[in-house]
Amino acid sequence: MDIAEKEKKYFFQTYKRLPLNVEKGEGVFLYTDKGKFLDMFGGLAVNVLGYNNKKVNEAIISQINKFSHLSNNFYQESQIEFAEKLLSLSGFNRIFLSSTGTEAIEGAIKLVRKHFNSDTKRELISFKGGFHGRTYGSLSLTTKDKYRRGFEPFLPGVHHLIYNSIDDLRRTVNENTAAVFLEFIQGEGGIYSADCSFVDALNELKEKYGFLIIADCIQCGAGRTGKFLSIHHYKCNVDICVTAKGIGGGLPVSALMAKEYLNECFHAGDHGTTFGGNPVACAAGVAALEEIESYAMKNAETIGLYLKRGMLVLQNQYPDKIKDVRGAGLMLGIELGNVIPEVLVEKLFERKVLVNLTNISCVRLLPPLILNEEQADLFLTAFEDSIKS
Ligand SMILES: Cc1ncc(COP(=O)(O)O)c(C=O)c1O
Repeated sequence: MDIAEKEKKYFFQTYKRLPLNVEKGEGVFLYTDKGKFLDMFGGLAVNVLGYNNKKVNEAIISQINKFSHLSNNFYQESQIEFAEKLLSLSGFNRIFLSSTGTEAIEGAIKLVRKHFNSDTKRELISFKGGFHGRTYGSLSLTTKDKYRRGFEPFLPGVHHLIYNSIDDLRRTVNENTAAVFLEFIQGEGGIYSADCSFVDALNELKEKYGFLIIADCIQCGAGRTGKFLSIHHYKCNVDICVTAKGIGGGLPVSALMAKEYLNECFHAGDHGTTFGGNPVACAAGVAALEEIESYAMKNAETIGLYLKRGMLVLQNQYPDKIKDVRGAGLMLGIELGNVIPEVLVEKLFERKVLVNLTNISCVRLLPPLILNEEQADLFLTAFEDSIKS
């Protein structure tokens, strides 16, 4: 049996795998049994520094040589270093570390519940197109039918509103609203950004009704949008922020971060996880955050603009095929028009470029933040050739 047959025999068939055997990764490229591929979706936003980053590797090896796991009964140097760096880049005061994005969202829901400790003020709001994860709390906030069908019932008291609709927001929030969860740039939903006027309305309604604002920066964090977190593009009174994906330099770590006043909600035993803040993941995270801060975040901004401009030129040339180009930094969405999305992905694959589709007709670009102009040009040429053919 080859690897594909074995996978089919042993695994629940929850993932669509690419027909590739990856031998190694280097920078923005994957070396496979079918040749060298430019990876334009970078481990779905995890591989912010591409593959095989030397500093991250050294940090991992150095930590493994000390210990690869300690329970959270111990103080851990790498956790502290990681927390200090992450909080300072993010602008929050308190942190809880877990391993995946969805866990961080669950932690945020618990923190909201504990904060209000009320039978009535516990309604939650999220937005259509938003994606927050696959465990029950986060899936209750996630709106897409495809992910929810068959898994009911979900948490009660969750309202799904139209993203960027101030009217919908005004109509729904009231004294019982405990929290509003949103991605300031929706990833899975097709790379849509929150309007400034919508964020202003959110701030205003928060003042009136006293709910918390929770930013899901799991995909739109780690410097991807040209700022460390997407919320840094806005003036928003965010109480809790969750982030994950790229912050661990490829290892699983996620963070629930909050303002100081929420510290009083969680006491010993209120929340916990065995692997959260794993020392190797935190050591990798410290190295990754240093790289993000020193050059990758800036590069995401400049190359992101370069790539976006290149795509806008193509949109001008092929307006029937490219309907929209949106997003910030290296989190870009290309809305396709008169093109069959899956065929375009295949054509790009033939040209050794890997892209990911989301929301049916949107090509979602989440390349490593170290992408350079030459590699961006490689992508633009392959994209143009593919839509022409
Ligand atoms: C915005 C957002 N929130 C939450 C999640 C869930 O993260 P995880 O898959 O690590 O549980 C994702 C994953 O893609 C995401 O993009």
